[in-house]
Amino acid sequence: MAKINHSIEHQQKVYQKWAPIYDRVYRGFLGDAHRTVAKLAADAGDDILEVGVGTGLILPHYPARCRVTGVDLSEHMISKAREKVERQGLDHVKALHVMNAHHLDFADRSFTAVCLPFVITLIPDPERALDECARVLKPGGEIIIASKLGHGRGLQGAIEEVVAPLAHRVGWSSAFRISRIADWAARRGDFEVAEIRPVFPNGFFKVMRLKHRLSA
Ligand SMILES: C[S@@+](CC[C@H](N)C(=O)[O-])C[C@H]1O[C@@H](n2cnc3c(N)ncnc32)[C@H](O)[C@@H]1O
Repeated sequence: MAKINHSIEHQQKVYQKWAPIYDRVYRGFLGDAHRTVAKLAADAGDDILEVGVGTGLILPHYPARCRVTGVDLSEHMISKAREKVERQGLDHVKALHVMNAHHLDFADRSFTAVCLPFVITLIPDPERALDECARVLKPGGEIIIASKLGHGRGLQGAIEEVVAPLAHRVGWSSAFRISRIADWAARRGDFEVAEIRPVFPNGFFKVMRLKHRLSA
């Protein structure tokens, strides 16, 4: 527990520093993944939860018909998202809350899609967060994950392992395996990996769709 609390405090400190410059650094680089996440989430339905919403770079990409809620651990990142919603008149964004992915303060079966864009690798207990996402998801809904997700094979897998501690210090992590998410889904039995879509740059990032099985 002490380790988890330390990691949470670490993330909050890191993103306090990132908040003022995050959009300038990442808007272009993550744009393809962001548009893909918004499109796939909206295809799954209108009630969307974004976990780790950050400065809200994805928020303008959701169609106006959607009802979007965003949560993030960092009040500094969330306050940037609030400014964006106000400035751009994003009426489809219904609420933005400071919240830890480990404890989502929403009723069961609230959302048609739950998105985790570039956050799963930073969460101390990703399986617990995924269980929370599953709990707040409506039957038949989708969990959409975007990240640097590797297979852990070959030279790329070795490089990912080497740079992981450094990446963690800047609030990023590069050594997260697709198999870890697939194993979570297989253990539960009520989710299937519906798609793993490589996105810019050249498949370096991936968007993964986990679909809830109605029959499970
Ligand atoms: C790399 S940024 C991604 C922001 C945004 N999703 C995007 O794609 O631009 C990671 C975000 O996740 C948030 N975060 C990290 N750990 C979290 C947790 N346990 N619960 C909720 N948010 C978390 C950070 O505060 C930060 O805003």
